[in-house]
Amino acid sequence: MGNRSLAAGRRKVGHQAVPKWLGLAVAGLVAAGAPGCAEKTPKPDEPTPVRLVTWRPNQPEVWDEVFARFEARNPDLKVVREVGPHSTTAFHALLTQKLKNQSPDVDVFLMDVIWPPEFGSAGWALPLDERFPPEERAQFLPGAILANTYEGRLYGVPLYLASGMLYYRKDLLAQHGFEPPETWEEMVAQAAAIVARGTEAGEELHGFSGQFKQYEGLVCDMLEFILSRGGHAVDPRTGRSALAEEPALEAVRFVRDRIIGGAAPRGVLTYAEPESLDLFVQGKAVFHRNWPYAWEVANNPEKSRVEGRVGLSVLPRFPQGESTATLGGWQVGVSRFSRNADAAWRLVSYLTSFETQKLLAIRAGLAPTRRAVYEDPEVLAAQPHLGAMAEVFATAYPRPRTPVYPAVSNVLQRYFSTAIADRSSDLDHLAREASAEVDRILDLAR
Ligand code: GLC
Repeated sequence: MGNRSLAAGRRKVGHQAVPKWLGLAVAGLVAAGAPGCAEKTPKPDEPTPVRLVTWRPNQPEVWDEVFARFEARNPDLKVVREVGPHSTTAFHALLTQKLKNQSPDVDVFLMDVIWPPEFGSAGWALPLDERFPPEERAQFLPGAILANTYEGRLYGVPLYLASGMLYYRKDLLAQHGFEPPETWEEMVAQAAAIVARGTEAGEELHGFSGQFKQYEGLVCDMLEFILSRGGHAVDPRTGRSALAEEPALEAVRFVRDRIIGGAAPRGVLTYAEPESLDLFVQGKAVFHRNWPYAWEVANNPEKSRVEGRVGLSVLPRFPQGESTATLGGWQVGVSRFSRNADAAWRLVSYLTSFETQKLLAIRAGLAPTRRAVYEDPEVLAAQPHLGAMAEVFATAYPRPRTPVYPAVSNVLQRYFSTAIADRSSDLDHLAREASAEVDRILDLAR
């Protein structure tokens, strides 16, 4: 009863939402045969729009070129881009709202590597198994295909991969006779020595910058500390939260006490990827944690003051653990509510093609998901780090693969953010609370 009246109420609101004058104005335009009404009588030679929802890119000029190439090869189609926020968390909110509304304004969307189980189980993403047969899938890295698979069906095609890496100022390390640090402790000590000398010389220099704002990037960075201490957020062996266990606690304590306001300025508590990279490319940080695209930006003289002085290494670890990078990356999906799935698929195919992945690798430093791109001599010549880091990409650690990942992540984001922002935080208590909340969410999904 309550439901029905709510639905009726909505319909009514929907009706009233179009003011009378607007209806009249539209009628007037139709009568006058205005150009705005082209949709009613499409000209045969006009390209069909394919609507893509995407985030604000790090390297817009490269993406402009990708879409221009697509349109040149597909003159019957036109890509209409809706550019959302840069942050994956904010972009998720925008995109899922559209999909919940079954909006026909979305044909194709970019999907973070953590979303396919959610989008598959919610019925938002079209299963692509028939369009993307096993022979074609075999061209891709298996981990990337796995990330797009939920309950045996495939919901996205992998566009590029990412994994956390340590960027450093090779000139500054060399001046001090340092090798890239193996442990977090060593990184903090090297940073302190280099910063002390820089500060004497009157420079603004910090030891480290990374992503510690309350959003998905914080989860990625914190997982790298926790995993490299042998801990887990969700233990894959038990499927339960391990946040309140000693390895995870110790890693979080290290970030709170030694990184925030220590090696890194307190300001990193508000930094996502762009802000943290800015500090590094301005020459104001010795070490920097970021994804592969930062290599191109840091070495691009138009965007960076430290080009040619940047080194790249695997992330440090704790003495008891192994270096571990979080697996990131983006996929392309087709909306279940698209009215033009064939055109949508043509865009997906082009975006994930060898040609596009090669362009993205060479021009944007993005790590391909197709195996063959890693062997391409032009790619390796332009971006040697992609070959050198291929092993890190292949072994990067996936975040929990569950349709309730966004809810789990939300708890993690709040926990990490509160825990690291204040040195007097009661870590045991906060971790136990977050753990119980994560387990409750995971139980609901079982
Ligand atoms: C990058 C990664 C993505 C991750 C995000 C966090 O975009 O590719 O997987 O979730 O950063 O900020």
